[in-house]
Amino acid sequence: MYIQSIELSNYRNYRSLVMEFDRGTNILFGDNAQGKTNILESVYLSGTSRSHRTVRDRELIRFGQEEAHIRTNLCRDDLSYRIDIHIRQGRSKGIAVNGMPVKKASELFGLLGIIFFSPEDLNIVKNGPAERRHFINAELSQIDRIYLSDLSNYNKALNQRNSLLREIFNHPEMKETLDVWDEQLIAYGKRIIARRRAFVADMLPIVAKIHRKLSGEREELVISYEPSIDDIFFEDELLRTRDRDMRMGTTNVGPHRDDLKLSIGGVDIRKFGSQGQQRTCALSLKLAEIQIMENKRGEKPVLLLDDVLSELDSNRQNYLLESINDIQTIITCTGLDEFVKNKFSVHRVYEISNGQAFLREKIAN
Ligand SMILES: Nc1ncnc2c1ncn2[C@@H]1O[C@H](COP(=O)(O)OP(=O)(O)OP(=O)(O)O)[C@@H](O)[C@H]1O
Ligand SMILES: [Mg+2]
Repeated sequence: MYIQSIELSNYRNYRSLVMEFDRGTNILFGDNAQGKTNILESVYLSGTSRSHRTVRDRELIRFGQEEAHIRTNLCRDDLSYRIDIHIRQGRSKGIAVNGMPVKKASELFGLLGIIFFSPEDLNIVKNGPAERRHFINAELSQIDRIYLSDLSNYNKALNQRNSLLREIFNHPEMKETLDVWDEQLIAYGKRIIARRRAFVADMLPIVAKIHRKLSGEREELVISYEPSIDDIFFEDELLRTRDRDMRMGTTNVGPHRDDLKLSIGGVDIRKFGSQGQQRTCALSLKLAEIQIMENKRGEKPVLLLDDVLSELDSNRQNYLLESINDIQTIITCTGLDEFVKNKFSVHRVYEISNGQAFLREKIAN
């Protein structure tokens, strides 16, 4: 599967743009603030219906305009698909596939698999659990439709429960209604826990293999799921911590507090890893994502690398570039030097300047 072209109108800093991609490696280079990440964001949106950096759709509309359009043309099993996303001020976005409106964003599910890799991802091991949960969620949501809807229902129930907890402070009689939200939390939460557990188990050998290679066969990375509470105890624990929840106005146990543990030789890398180790582990996780998505979807995803190469030393750069030679990749960077040095095959090079794209090189693939 690969993206043939995108068309943007009044999207971010693009008035109007048509851009064709090669099915191999595409480079977008240019100075800061010219619109490179914006292009990757529009591709990400076409796959997942959301932006990787904002939940507010109106930010995507070019300043001073009323609406924005993104059209993505892709090819999958020799069939062509067209995804249209229409973003309007003050209204929810419209999505259509091949001209047929899609009611829920989740119906877009499964068409275009995307892996987005930015320099912040290199901090997922070092940073807090929220980012590691986000990593698991972003991946599972693209390979498991039920997970996607369970997660959204869980989050809705959690928000409702938390606002109720705060209201109970002034209206103790409302305590009764907590049961309704607890039930939902437990039902969706148990399924989320089970799916995360299976996902981390599937991922373990893949990550370990990649990490072995990245560390020159020196390190054995072990990842394990660290749930806030095991599914079988969730119900009891939720009841047990109810008083504390009411005092604090928030839900203290549940999958929204889960974590992913990473260790090497029995040492917890989140806390005790060196910076380099933590970044290598993060790279191993991201690269494992590619393989998992391919295993689960039967097709390679499209890889978006936002400014990430300059963050890696040459060994890791080489490894990354080796592992992407048979997958469509769109890479952004500020300069071209690193690619010339690295002698790897690039098929199309665009220079991005002030909301416009200029084709600089096109090599038949
Ligand atoms: N809704 C919008 N309307 C118009 N311009 C916008 C909008 N949102 C963002 N921009 C502009 O887009 C530009 C940033 O684009 P982008 O993040 O893609 O830059 P970049 O080329 O990736 O830069 P860097 O190399 O620093 O990452 C900024 O100048 C910003 O003001
Ligand atoms: Mg950028």
